Amino acid sequence: MSTTPSAEPSAGGEQRPRVVLDCDPGHDDAIAIVVAARHTELVGITTVAGNAPLDRTTRNALIVRDLAAPGVPVVSGAARPIVAEPVHAAYVHGESGMDGADLPEPSGPVDGDDAVGFIIDACREHEGTWLVPTGPLTNVALALRAAPDLAHRIAGISLMGGGTFGNRTAAAEFNIWCDPEAAAVVFEYGGPLIMCGLHVTHGFLATPDRIRRVRDVPGRLPAVLADLLDFFSDTYVRLHHDLAGAPVHDPCAVMAITHPHLFESYDAHVVVETHGVHTRGETVIDRRTSRGRPAPTCRVLDRIDADAGFAVVEEAIAHAARAG
Ligand code: RIB
Ligand code: CA
Repeated sequence: MSTTPSAEPSAGGEQRPRVVLDCDPGHDDAIAIVVAARHTELVGITTVAGNAPLDRTTRNALIVRDLAAPGVPVVSGAARPIVAEPVHAAYVHGESGMDGADLPEPSGPVDGDDAVGFIIDACREHEGTWLVPTGPLTNVALALRAAPDLAHRIAGISLMGGGTFGNRTAAAEFNIWCDPEAAAVVFEYGGPLIMCGLHVTHGFLATPDRIRRVRDVPGRLPAVLADLLDFFSDTYVRLHHDLAGAPVHDPCAVMAITHPHLFESYDAHVVVETHGVHTRGETVIDRRTSRGRPAPTCRVLDRIDADAGFAVVEEAIAHAARAG
């Protein structure tokens, strides 16, 4: 079983990677949906509780799907972590999970409520599918446990989560911290794995200038997304003394496979701490150079070319607006 990504992601412009996006919209998840709709064969959007309870993350996914990815099925999944008690992030995303914009009503009901089954079926029907989780890893872990054959059927997993520092605690990033047991399953699954952690996404900020460029794009979607990014950034700037805007975390996990040239990375053995009093939910990255260190299990993204990355985001928004 390969331990680092053997299925090299496309370098953009080549065959569009086939993707299931598992998310908890979430302001930055919304941007991830737009970029995935533009640059991948987006076969489905599955939802998980995280930034907000499942009914809200699912509603938000339907709204963004309608605006940016019409026709893509939305299937809801886990309403709570495998072991941990549910915790949400209204202090960042608002009670709705996507506060700050005048959002349309969803065009219809969710397309299903078995995200785990959807993920399994999608990966068995087409070998070489990428799983791109941008929320807690509950759905993906349950799918890997229910269908171990997925480990050698999928192209890989490119996730937003973890990193060299935390946000929910000093050690743990929110997506991992929400469901550490699920994250441990994913980090130990043995197939190609890409981690986009906070040390990368905190270098990918929705600055006022970048939000202004989104707002200048004609159409309802750009206006909605600019409002969402304004809310998201206002929250981050209020909560941090060193950020000039919100880190736009989640599209980075998509661009890691659609635009890999935007990133610097290294391969390392990474495990998830599930027991530590102060470190539960930490992604422990083995950076030792000793000869006896364990073999790498993950491609750890280390840095993004933020200007080029945001140009990808802006173009995807403009493309969706023209198509809308
Ligand atoms: O820690 C940031 C991550 O947690 C992002 O995916 C955000 O949307 C939340 O899910
Ligand atoms: Ca998210």
